[in-house]
Amino acid sequence: MVPRRCLVTGAGRGIGAAVARRLAAQGHAVALTARSADELAAVAADLPGRTLVTAADLTDPDAADLVLGRVEAEFGGAVEVLVLNAGAGTSAPLARTTDEDWARMLELNLTAPFRLLRRALPGMVGQGFGRVVAVASTAAKRGDPYVAAYTASKHGLLGLVRSAAAEVAGSGVTVNAVCPGYADTPMTAATVAAISTATGRTPGQARDVLAGRQPIGRLVDPDEVADAVLLCVASAAITGQGINVDGGAVQS
Ligand SMILES: NC(=O)c1ccc[n+]([C@@H]2O[C@H](COP(=O)([O-])OP(=O)(O)OC[C@H]3O[C@@H](n4cnc5c(N)ncnc54)[C@H](OP(=O)(O)O)[C@@H]3O)[C@@H](O)[C@H]2O)c1
Repeated sequence: MVPRRCLVTGAGRGIGAAVARRLAAQGHAVALTARSADELAAVAADLPGRTLVTAADLTDPDAADLVLGRVEAEFGGAVEVLVLNAGAGTSAPLARTTDEDWARMLELNLTAPFRLLRRALPGMVGQGFGRVVAVASTAAKRGDPYVAAYTASKHGLLGLVRSAAAEVAGSGVTVNAVCPGYADTPMTAATVAAISTATGRTPGQARDVLAGRQPIGRLVDPDEVADAVLLCVASAAITGQGINVDGGAVQS
């Protein structure tokens, strides 16, 4: 396998950390970014090969330039594999979704990936190779109650991916999304805690509710999401797709 210059956003824990580990295990140079420098350093410390840690808040309009500029300077060329994974959720009935919640979801889950993609694509097209994989969600494919802002942001992210893929098709650059169901990560642990608080269920019962959302009857393992990311990195023929990794929840 040709070693590539990779950047994984939200690489400090959960799905992003799993993707970073798998890319590093394949021999790639892996740059990691998120806000928490300590978490990034802990993940990077266990990776074989070349790593680069840049702490940044990706909702900052200057972050894309800062982070990608460092990757180019340290790794000696434009990024080749860009995994747009950083994200967060929020839950509220639509009528109680505040402007702040709405803006936060769109800024982090949609505008930040847009800015990184806009900054990275010319370099990828110029070098005739690129792999962009956004970590979206089943919320990019269907609507559930109480997650309007998150769902709108993830639908937007899949739209961004599809349009970008069409625009650069034939250039050697592919752009895809993976769409996980409930995965076993700190983000889901926070959802379990919120359900438990709101409903009086035990954490175990709340976790069972989320496990039951996947027809396979369990949470998705972060490594199973990483499998789909690596498939998108390996293939030149998969582009413009939103690949469900959700135990059969969404059949499209
Ligand atoms: N867990 C699930 O069930 C699930 C299902 C479908 C889709 N997803 C998607 O998968 C992705 C990863 O989720 P996860 O479960 O692994 O979440 P997680 O465990 O909470 O990790 C999220 C990562 O994103 C980073 N991040 C959050 N806000 C950021 C910001 N403003 N700037 C830079 N980095 C930021 C976090 O680091 P800092 O907080 O240190 O910044 C962390 O490294 C998200 O896009 C999420 O929407 C998750």
